[in-house]
Amino acid sequence: MRKQIVAANWKMNLTIQEAEKLVNELIEKLPTLQINQEVVVGVPFPYLTMVKGIIANKANVFVAAQNCYTKDAGAYTGETSVPMLKSIGVEYVIIGHSERREYFHECHKMLTEKVERCFEHGLKPIFCCGEPLKIREAGLQNQYVETQLKESLFQFSAEQLKGFIIAYEPIWAIGTGKTASSEQAQEMHAHIRSVFQGQYGADIADTISILYGGSVKAANANEIFGKPDVDGGLVGGASLVVSEFVPIIEGLSS
Ligand code: 13P
Repeated sequence: MRKQIVAANWKMNLTIQEAEKLVNELIEKLPTLQINQEVVVGVPFPYLTMVKGIIANKANVFVAAQNCYTKDAGAYTGETSVPMLKSIGVEYVIIGHSERREYFHECHKMLTEKVERCFEHGLKPIFCCGEPLKIREAGLQNQYVETQLKESLFQFSAEQLKGFIIAYEPIWAIGTGKTASSEQAQEMHAHIRSVFQGQYGADIADTISILYGGSVKAANANEIFGKPDVDGGLVGGASLVVSEFVPIIEGLSS
């Protein structure tokens, strides 16, 4: 049974006081999680230790960094390495979010290196992919996403990619209130799984958790998560409001 995950991506939001209040409230209201279900909270670097401390004893709840650097240590002012994240108990890292690709010019090769650092040090990447509106309008989304996966991930072995986590986030649906329909999500998720199947075989493809991201809300989570190839969500804006985020977690099928 592959993992179902609801991951929060707080992005660059909240003061530490607001963050502490939010995570305490989330833990208090957290629904019961099945054995194969996880909640991952992706928070800004300065809050990782605080959030980790609050969720420490909660089964199936983990903390994620929103980025990491490609090198382990050295003269890279302002960067945060995977060994640093590991040393404070971080388990997950969001890699290749479209905002990082766009605003920080992260390319396929850089993302490969980041995933590689995570594998080396035993952290779990949540690898983001997804097409811009122009590509969707041209009907080229399948090829576009396939290229993102191939260029950054197909250097890795089947063993390394077993249980890997992908977040499909169509850029036109991020922060716009315009969600992909559950059919559009299912179609792309099935495509992503078939791309992995073609390269690594069905045994590996079936272990990959594919999360949908882009304007996931309490009102649409259950329908989207109900699709056979959708294994949960990566949630931005709605993860900042506990009364929205908790029903999203409840939207995971049992
Ligand atoms: P929104 O849920 O705010 O659309 O953001 C999605 C996202 O980018 C999560 O990584």
